[in-house]
Amino acid sequence: MEKIIDENTQGNTLTLEAREGNSRKLYIESYGCQMNFSDSEIVASILAEQGYNTTNLLEDADLVLVNTCSIRDKAEQTVRKRLEKYNAVKRINPKMKVGVLGCMAERLKEKFLEEEKIVDLVVGPDAYKDIPNLLKEVEEGRDAVNVILSKEETYGDISPVRLGGNGITAFVSITRGCDNMCTFCVVPFTRGRERSRDPQSILEEVNDLAEKGYKEITLLGQNVDSYLWYGGGLKKDFKNASEMQQATATNFSNLLALVAEAQPKMRIRFSTSNPQDMTEDVLHTMAKYNNICNYIHLPVQSGSTRILKEMNRQHTREEYFALIDKVREILPDCGISQDMITGFPTETEEDHQDTLSLMEYVKYDFGFMFMYSERPGTLAARKLVDDVPEEIKKRRLTEIVNLQQKHSAYHTNRTVGKTVEVLIERESKKSDQHWSGRTPQNTVAVFPKENYKPGDFVLVKINDCTTATLLGEAVGYSNNH
Ligand code: SAH
Ligand code: F3S
Repeated sequence: MEKIIDENTQGNTLTLEAREGNSRKLYIESYGCQMNFSDSEIVASILAEQGYNTTNLLEDADLVLVNTCSIRDKAEQTVRKRLEKYNAVKRINPKMKVGVLGCMAERLKEKFLEEEKIVDLVVGPDAYKDIPNLLKEVEEGRDAVNVILSKEETYGDISPVRLGGNGITAFVSITRGCDNMCTFCVVPFTRGRERSRDPQSILEEVNDLAEKGYKEITLLGQNVDSYLWYGGGLKKDFKNASEMQQATATNFSNLLALVAEAQPKMRIRFSTSNPQDMTEDVLHTMAKYNNICNYIHLPVQSGSTRILKEMNRQHTREEYFALIDKVREILPDCGISQDMITGFPTETEEDHQDTLSLMEYVKYDFGFMFMYSERPGTLAARKLVDDVPEEIKKRRLTEIVNLQQKHSAYHTNRTVGKTVEVLIERESKKSDQHWSGRTPQNTVAVFPKENYKPGDFVLVKINDCTTATLLGEAVGYSNNH
């Protein structure tokens, strides 16, 4: 899942339309991946039933919740700093309760209560439905912890309140957890086993979003390609129970088609794809429906087959190239992005050169690049020594970031002179005279407002660009939507 928040900045706060009759105030802040943002919406929905309205003023809150990320050490340090800030507020307002949600809650469990004295509540990613009970315990003066991971919980029955977003794009989670056990990654430990959500409830959520005027949805999971629902499809598709039982399972490609057909006017995206699980079927489904955006976030982590093996990624460099070739063959205009790690244990200069040459082959549209950060409890932490010095990790990171910028610029420059479809999402950050939106390939495009408005699908003639942004002018509405 691509990162939408810089780990150095304050997290995103979520504010929803106030519900009449609710008198308590919830301040909820999220760090990390899109799944956390989506989860915070679920938590806010659960708490709306308990009399809480959201506030974006920390000082006003009765309850402060922080949804946390453990993916790298730096992410955890950021949260610890925020907890210090909450502590300062709590000194003025001792009635305020503080809760930690998400991956750090799961990783540190009770330790949080011992180490961070200000924390009243610790809730893991699968225990959010228990928050009302846990709050009662807190009110009775006890510390409350629930970090039980579930094999079933998908929150499929909770419809998240989303009025805090832009009203145009939304995330819909389709799987939770991850079974891949990449050796560097803490997610399988903090988010538990992979489970897929009932396609019926996914479709209901998508239809509901369409009714509310949303124009784009992103199907979300740690590894969307391994989505599998054994329930035999949708009840309404079958004449009777025995026919239903005989039906085959719904895989990711089937689900994509179901969603694309249910809402042909909406843009459909998904994230994240794992190269080892991505099938050709998915590519054909993307080609078949023009409302599915031609964009794939396809993290590779390293270009060296030896390192990939150490990482427990289930493919070689050559297999990855073969997949990229397939993507280019079936979807010639597909945007592709990466996640990359530099300085994984034992990574040599030669391995690093393999990463650079892999990037040269693929020429990603953009990417998210990180220095390896050892996470306690992971296989890499237990079996391998974090032996690449910080300076070398940094230098390699700079090299791949520079190369990525060159490739990003290559793509934006190639688009100059073309007309692309843009869904307007918001005002440009740099100018209140311009709209900002994204192309199907997920590149940001900016253009003068004229008479258009957020939520419009517009054709934009691109006449200039920066490394990562397309600049142009609208030439009319797109009739694809
Ligand atoms: N499959 C998930 C991956 C989540 S983590 C998804 O939906 O994208 C996001 C990215 O963080 C990973 O792809 C990886 O590049 C990076 N990452 C994970 N663990 C890391 C670690 N220990 N150190 C540095 N980067 C890490
Ligand atoms: Fe992590 Fe690998 Fe799963 S990066 S989230 S273990 S696919």
